[in-house]
Amino acid sequence: MASQDSSQAIHRLIQITDSHLFADENTELVGMNCQEGLTDVVELVKEHEDQIDAVLCTGDIAQDASLLAYNRFAEKIDELRSPQLWIPGNHDIPGRMQEALGTEHPALNHTLRLGKWGVVMLNSCVEGCIYGKLSESELEMLAKELKLLHQEERYVLLAVHHNPVPVNAEWLQNHSMQETEEFFRIIDAYDNIKAVIFGHIHQDFKIVRNNVLMLGAPSTSIQFHPEHDYFSLDKENPGYRWLSLHPNGQIATGVRRVVGKIYKLDLSSKGY
Ligand SMILES: [Fe+2]
Ligand SMILES: [Fe+2]
Repeated sequence: MASQDSSQAIHRLIQITDSHLFADENTELVGMNCQEGLTDVVELVKEHEDQIDAVLCTGDIAQDASLLAYNRFAEKIDELRSPQLWIPGNHDIPGRMQEALGTEHPALNHTLRLGKWGVVMLNSCVEGCIYGKLSESELEMLAKELKLLHQEERYVLLAVHHNPVPVNAEWLQNHSMQETEEFFRIIDAYDNIKAVIFGHIHQDFKIVRNNVLMLGAPSTSIQFHPEHDYFSLDKENPGYRWLSLHPNGQIATGVRRVVGKIYKLDLSSKGY
């Protein structure tokens, strides 16, 4: 929040993820209108959040990687009047995102500094694949940024689309971030990294690994059932994750979902 001394400020972040928008806003994903879900979640954010320091958009922004979908997403997030950062998910095409935003747009920056904190956005996309992986250049960027942020004595939040840790749903395992050894070797060398947030799993998720919070978030579209070993939709409503970053390195966080509304959804669907 705004403060004269930004090193003492608490910074409020919002995570918006997996909106899966289409070029045509009336197209449905397993029965759900994803544009409606995003609109409702953005209204929910407006209703509950006074001042947002940044909106972290963690991928699968568009289901069809269309310019129209990216433009409509940008327009919607602009309504929150906050800095935004975008990373691609497996359904996105990074070049198309750049085309929609313009290559110099700050939403495409890798890092954001907020008082005592640094945020690093990681691209885990492997073109044409559902699973994710951090490329050598992405790992190099991460190592470089972490070194800098450590020298600057900042706490760190990482954001990436694919889950780097297993979740309870067996079917999602093959779709997770693969070859995570180097990622964990790099981050385990630091004690100022406080959380890794991700999208992709379409569900609220929280574990602690090596003193670092690992956080999944509800999508603004369809929700996956947290514990089924096969693809299964959950009746939970769309939502977002909020995070308050404290100047002493502590994080308060939670998810908030749309209430009082029933979305059209094909619960018998075997995939998406
Ligand atoms: Fe997704
Ligand atoms: Fe995904």
